[in-house]
Amino acid sequence: MSGVTIVGPSLGAAPLCEPILRALPRWFGIPEATAQYIRDIDTMPTLTALKNEICLGFLALRRFGKFAADIHVMGVMPDCHHQGFGRHLVTAAEAFLAREGVEYLQVKTLSPSRSDANYDLTRRFYLALGFRPLDEFPTLWGEANPCLQLIKKIK
Ligand SMILES: CC(C)(COP(=O)(O)OP(=O)(O)OC[C@H]1O[C@@H](n2cnc3c(N)ncnc32)[C@H](O)[C@@H]1OP(=O)(O)O)[C@@H](O)C(=O)NCCC(=O)NCCS
Repeated sequence: MSGVTIVGPSLGAAPLCEPILRALPRWFGIPEATAQYIRDIDTMPTLTALKNEICLGFLALRRFGKFAADIHVMGVMPDCHHQGFGRHLVTAAEAFLAREGVEYLQVKTLSPSRSDANYDLTRRFYLALGFRPLDEFPTLWGEANPCLQLIKKIK
């Protein structure tokens, strides 16, 4: 993490974040969904982890009303996984949101009811950071991709 700066949140970050989504096909392998994420990121407050002006990780936020926000999508370059980038991004997002008066942060990801070794790691990450499973939505993303909702009280 030395030499890494967390920047933002700011709008218009899609060009910085797109290479990361493209580098993670085991998580972002559905072309239409990835294209939608790229459009979303551009309009959402997004934190970036920069090293030598290269973006190695990002986290895009969606606000819901006064008290809640959502990690809409986040990713870290594969070579940088499990080195603290994700934790730093979430910690910075929580600090920003807490200053804004937000109390709850949620994230939706693939449910363990569909076996997937990659998303096992994703869920492990969110659990390690204090997120807790709240509900499951079996058809929100289609029956092939059951959705798990996790939530964390941040303030
Ligand atoms: C999920 C993701 C954002 C996590 O970022 P990261 O920088 O790799 O995670 P961190 O290094 O900050 O890990 C924080 C904690 O999560 C857990 N964790 C993270 N990666 C892990 C791994 N590969 N194996 C086991 N535990 C892991 C650990 O408890 C870790 O704490 P530790 O370093 O004290 O062991 C990143 O791995 C990623 O981009 N994954 C692919 C895309 C994705 O899943 N995005 C989220 C869906 S929207």
